[in-house]
Amino acid sequence: LSGTVTIPVVVHVVYNTAAENISDGQIQSQIDVLNEDFQKLNADRSNPYPYSGLAAAAPVRFTLASVVRKASKTRSWSTNDAVKNSKRGGDDAWDATKYLNLWSCNLGNGLLGYAQFPGGAPATDGVVMLYSAFGSRAKWPTGTYSSPYDLGRTATHEVGHWMNLRHIWGDDGGACTGSDQVGDTPNQGGENYGCPAAGKSSCTNASTGGDMFMNYMDYTDDRCMFMFSKGQADRMTAVFDAGGARSSFAT
Ligand code: ARG
Ligand code: ZN
Ligand code: CA
Repeated sequence: LSGTVTIPVVVHVVYNTAAENISDGQIQSQIDVLNEDFQKLNADRSNPYPYSGLAAAAPVRFTLASVVRKASKTRSWSTNDAVKNSKRGGDDAWDATKYLNLWSCNLGNGLLGYAQFPGGAPATDGVVMLYSAFGSRAKWPTGTYSSPYDLGRTATHEVGHWMNLRHIWGDDGGACTGSDQVGDTPNQGGENYGCPAAGKSSCTNASTGGDMFMNYMDYTDDRCMFMFSKGQADRMTAVFDAGGARSSFAT
């Protein structure tokens, strides 16, 4: 890949209550966060932490292509992809070779969001978000948000999955055996929540700086995650390369 990939985003606002029908301002604040976070222009990038030398930008730019608003009788959604289907009360995906589909809805079960990895079915490709974890209170204060997931980092995390990133701890249930397939992220036991104290470590990573809990692919609070690593940026870039699962965006 050479240069920057432009990713047009279609936001499908599937709502049952007025609060779920989030405003254009709240939607734009999410696009702005995605651009800042992936381009390493986020204000908190200069926070001091052990891995600051590894922080990297990905060569992507997000633009808001369209907002589709759809009233629905469904009060709560799950990970069964119904929200992506007009016949099931949701709203159909736009052409997944050209657009990143982002659904905002009332996800149940305490879920903040979920994503489809590259290589899956086009009709279900994209990211589903809880409406109150969509956008950033810092950029659009009058929106509907649930603290501490109110700075737009759920979408950063989910779009990371959409670009082939795995969880930083390797999804091994707390063991030190799993891997995120990225070379420069430390081996980490399990996921972190909240805002861990500096130096919090697991497996054998104490000597290199501990868990990389400030990584967008951990489960920490929005204000405590603020970086992708160089290895993660390379892995994301590869999906847009010739032959990569999302090369259609690079044209
Ligand atoms: N898929 C994760 C969940 O629903 C998203 C975690 C996002 N974390 C965050 N700080 N915004 O739990
Ligand atoms: Zn995840
Ligand atoms: Ca692990």
